[in-house]
Amino acid sequence: MDDGILGISTGGLSPFKGTGELKGTLISLEGCEGSGKSTQAEMLKGYLEERGKTVTLVREPGGTDAGERIREILLDPQTGELAPIAEALLFAAARAQLVRDVIRPALREGNIVVADRYTDSSLAYQGVARGCGLEAVKNLNDWATGDLEPNLTVFLDMSVKDGLARVRGEDRIEQEELAFHENVRYAYSMLIRIFSYRMVVVDARGGPEDVHDRVISHISRMVV
Ligand code: TYD
Repeated sequence: MDDGILGISTGGLSPFKGTGELKGTLISLEGCEGSGKSTQAEMLKGYLEERGKTVTLVREPGGTDAGERIREILLDPQTGELAPIAEALLFAAARAQLVRDVIRPALREGNIVVADRYTDSSLAYQGVARGCGLEAVKNLNDWATGDLEPNLTVFLDMSVKDGLARVRGEDRIEQEELAFHENVRYAYSMLIRIFSYRMVVVDARGGPEDVHDRVISHISRMVV
């Protein structure tokens, strides 16, 4: 017997695979090129582990098999110019995979996830600097992540020129001209205002230890 279209069972399928209760904490690190995010992410992980926390460190794009393959397309200069929307979709695709397979399971376990870049990178780089539009990229990423927002985002701030002087400029996006990277920083300054309830700014100048101390001054308030 046919129950009609509304009688068809979907089998309770969710693209996010059992969202469940997320007990953990998601901390993202953001910044322009050469701002020291990866070093600070490692140091933060060490700090939290010393205090008995279980920490999952992820970097974007990547962190899953599919994500690493997408990363190659995105960062290899041989890819050449990508349509900005294609670029935004690829970053979001890698993120969707990472959120479903790594971040959500870790948060469900009650772990702390430290993300070396997350959705704010897409908002700044693709939404503003590439001109895709903040709203479109925000909607895309809300879909990709199932609305998973960080509990805290630390923006590591330094001048674009100082940051670029620290990197080798090997990947496709690092190789963009100075004006592109200045737009990225400008975009972050907007995001810091829009998402003031979760974003903090840390001066990223000076040695790694000094910057680490500044980072943990924000962390220790929320992670006991
Ligand atoms: P990566 O080698 O991880 O550099 P970094 O140490 O600066 O994080 O390369 C990531 C590059 O991809 C970087 O130039 C920023 C860019 N990016 C985006 O444009 N959008 C995004 O959503 C993400 C995650 C990164």
